[in-house]
Amino acid sequence: MQTTTTVEGLRGVLDAARVRGESVGFVPTMGYLHAGHESLMDRARSDCGVVVASIFVNPLQFGVGEDLDAYPRDLDGDSALATRAGVDVLFVPSVEEMYPGSVATTVSVAGVSAPMEGASRPTHFDGVATVVAKLFNIVGPCRAYFGEKDFQQLAVIRRMVADLSVPVTVVGCPTLREDDGLARSSRNVYLSPEERAAAPVLHRALCLGASLIRAGETDADTVRAAMAAEIATQALGTLDYVEVADATTLERQRECGPDSRLLGAVRFGRARLIDNVGVEPLDNVVRPPERD
Ligand code: PAJ
Repeated sequence: MQTTTTVEGLRGVLDAARVRGESVGFVPTMGYLHAGHESLMDRARSDCGVVVASIFVNPLQFGVGEDLDAYPRDLDGDSALATRAGVDVLFVPSVEEMYPGSVATTVSVAGVSAPMEGASRPTHFDGVATVVAKLFNIVGPCRAYFGEKDFQQLAVIRRMVADLSVPVTVVGCPTLREDDGLARSSRNVYLSPEERAAAPVLHRALCLGASLIRAGETDADTVRAAMAAEIATQALGTLDYVEVADATTLERQRECGPDSRLLGAVRFGRARLIDNVGVEPLDNVVRPPERD
């Protein structure tokens, strides 16, 4: 695996690969890699000739008072995981490399960015869309891989790509979970042992909502109330939101059904955890593949 910290270095490697006729797959990340990220890399590896992953903790997507400075970092561990996953090129730019001057041009995706994460973190999705647009322009991938774990982010990226005619295929990949249902996340390191034990309540509440819809419940308020009540059983968790939304537009639903997505955010101490599930049971449990 080659590691490069410069846009010029990366473009040199990838231009040569494109001349050889190879397709480029891309997995953008903020590092502190885990099995969830690895599943995206595995998928890119099986689809594409050259696999690029990026590690960049993007200041633009963190609000004032959020965890930008505390965000966990481990470049040695990340390099080992990316090598094992078959990544060909790891792009690890500095903030100066990505943002050499002030940023005058940003990408803003109206509508789908507004509710839930957008309401709780007003500048977040502009920061995500802007950095992903830049990374797409730097890497020029044929296919780019994003996790359903960040379901609203995936919808924002899909919408940006469609609206701006970006020549990339966006591939959504299922959420990897711990055995007790907690979605894998770099931010899980913030959890104390007691909070870690309580944290699966979020996934449990979302699955409860999905099972109510599968059983025929069509009133979204009833489903939201049941999910909130489940989360309230854990005193350590503070509910931010639980939603029943249209899986494509992410608009809040009054009537729910098979097209619904259930999404939630709960704060446990320093950690703000997000998760989501679809209505079909198969959407909800995915574990890492066994490795030798
Ligand atoms: P990060 O949180 O590092 O996540 C990178 C990618 O890994 C995202 O597409 C995310 O959805 C996916 N991912 C995280 N946990 C996962 C899990 N448990 N199962 C499956 N996929 C998972 O998301 C970001 O970084 C940033 O916002 C980024 C897109 C890189 C822009 O800065």
